[in-house]
Formats: sequence, C-alpha cells, structure tokens
Amino acid sequence: MRIGVLTSGGDAPGMNAALRAVVRVAIYEGHDVVGIRNGFSGIFDKDFKAMDLSSVADIIHKGGTILGTSRSEEMRTEEGILRARRILKEEGIEHLIVIGGDGSMKGALALSDVGQSVITLPATIDNDLGYQEASIGFYTAVETILDAVGKVRDTSSALRRANIIEVMGRECGDLALYAGIAGGAESVIIPEVGLDFEGVKNKILAGKKRGKRHHIILLTEEQVPAYGLAKDLEEATGVETRVTILGYIQRGGIPTGKDRINASRLGAEAVSLCGDEKRSMALGFSEGRIQSFDLKEALAVEKSFDRALYDILDKISI
Ligand code: F6P
Repeated sequence: MRIGVLTSGGDAPGMNAALRAVVRVAIYEGHDVVGIRNGFSGIFDKDFKAMDLSSVADIIHKGGTILGTSRSEEMRTEEGILRARRILKEEGIEHLIVIGGDGSMKGALALSDVGQSVITLPATIDNDLGYQEASIGFYTAVETILDAVGKVRDTSSALRRANIIEVMGRECGDLALYAGIAGGAESVIIPEVGLDFEGVKNKILAGKKRGKRHHIILLTEEQVPAYGLAKDLEEATGVETRVTILGYIQRGGIPTGKDRINASRLGAEAVSLCGDEKRSMALGFSEGRIQSFDLKEALAVEKSFDRALYDILDKISI
C-alpha cells in the first residue's frame, strides 16, 4: 500500500513526532510512504519525497515540521481539489494522512468528497477542534506561555505593575484559560466570555489593597486591542499596566513529552487504519483515549467551553 503524509496549516510542536510515527509504523507494516512537502501546496507542486526510516531520524524532539507546511489557497477552489485528487491518484497514493488543524481538516474533507481516502490527526496549538480534547502542540504552547508568565511576573512584582499578556488561540480561549490556571493569572479574557472590564479592574484594585505586587491578565488575541485596554485599566486603577504580546514563539519549541507521546500514538493509529477501505476519518483523544470520528461529523462538532474551569480560575485568583 502507498500512504501519503503531509503537515498543513499553522505548525504545532509535535507534528514531527506524529510524522515520525506515521513513517516508521508504515514501513514496519510493509507500506510505501510518501512525504508531501509544504502542506497541500506540495501536491500541486508534485513535491513528493519517498520516506525511509532515516528520513525521520532525530526529529521527535524538534518543533516546526521537517516537511514544511502552508495554508493552500488552491485547496479552497473546486478546480484545485479535483486537480489535487487527480495528482494523488497518478502518484498511487491510496490513503492520505493529514496532520493539522481545522483548515487542514476542511481540505481533507474536500478531497474525501471527490474520492480520496483521508485520515486526519489534530495538530494545532489553539486546541479549537471540538471533537477532541488535546490537539498535538497545545500543551507545549501552554508550557511556553507559562515560561513567559513566570518571567513577566518577576518584573511585574519588582515594579508593582499589572501586565497584560496576549496569547494566540483565535476564537478559542483554551491557551489563555489553561495557562491562566497553571500560571496563577489574576484574570483571563477569552472569546467564550468576552471582556468584563469591571471584573478585571476590581481584581486589580482588590489585589492592590492587599499589597499584591503583580497582576497578570491573559488575553486571547483578536478580542480587544491590548494597548488600549492597558491604558484604560491604568486610568481606572492607578496601577501601571504593561503589555507583552507573545506571538509566534508560542508555535515553536521543543514538544513536551506528553505531546510527543500523543503524536506518536495518533500517528501509529492512523497507519493501522489504512486498509482496503476508503477512509474519511478524524482521529483524536476523547474521554482520555484515541477515538476515530467521521471526518465531516468531527468538523461539525462545536468546541465546548469549560465554564467550570473558568469559574475555578475566577475563585482561586482573588
Ligand atoms: O492556528 C494557529 C495559529 O497560531 C493561531 O493561534 C493564530 O491566530 C494563527 O495561527 C496565526 O496564523 P499565521 O501563521 O497564518 O499568521
């Protein structure tokens, strides 16, 4: 059997570990495995690489993706999808394993609709895929944020300041919420709840009264302009407020052990599902174990919001 594999969309730490598992398990089981460079774009460019055991040597601990990735515009057109399917067929790729987030899953679904067998593995730091609990890269990004929170807290305490730390996540507040809980943030501002200006202000004022020397506010990107919010909070509380925008450092770095283990398990499982049948499948951790979902159904599951976790943060951050 011939299996194609690509990484797509925003890179996430652990993509390499997933790729390594796919390649190694495929070879172990006697299949041919073809790496497609730069995401779906590599299909159009016919940028294929026959993978052997050593093509994935020494990568389990590396961030980024050795295959490269992209957000392919061509995959958004009907013509592009048909062309991609035709090329994959010419290359004899029976199953395509796609490692990426929701945009990548949509690309995979479009290919599946025109006859390609596809299996997707969830990899995104945002953890915004509703059908599963822990996408590859999410917990590594949380650790990266925690490292920054610790450092910002040091300087915040030294100068008795408030600090807004803006994190990624798009429409999903998981990065801010999980890092907020683990990092002891005073407030998180996430899309699922929105900005409660009075609440954030009152936390700072209460902390100030108790002699607290730091106030850490984690803000999901694209909610409110961080610098404007800092100015408003400073005016309302009299506490100097600074901004740190973490940006792309959240996407890189050494994947945590847990991300590497999850990625390895997902990669191995994907290969084991490649058989005679056409697949249209998304894999992911749900209720603590790997489960397979119909790809279309998985994409339709709305991400649920862990209100209880948010409430805990509110209570323990007084
Ligand atoms: O989806 C992952 C992510 O890092 C988001 O958190 C962020 O909004 C986006 O990608 C940035 O995308 P780009 O790399 O295209 O700027």
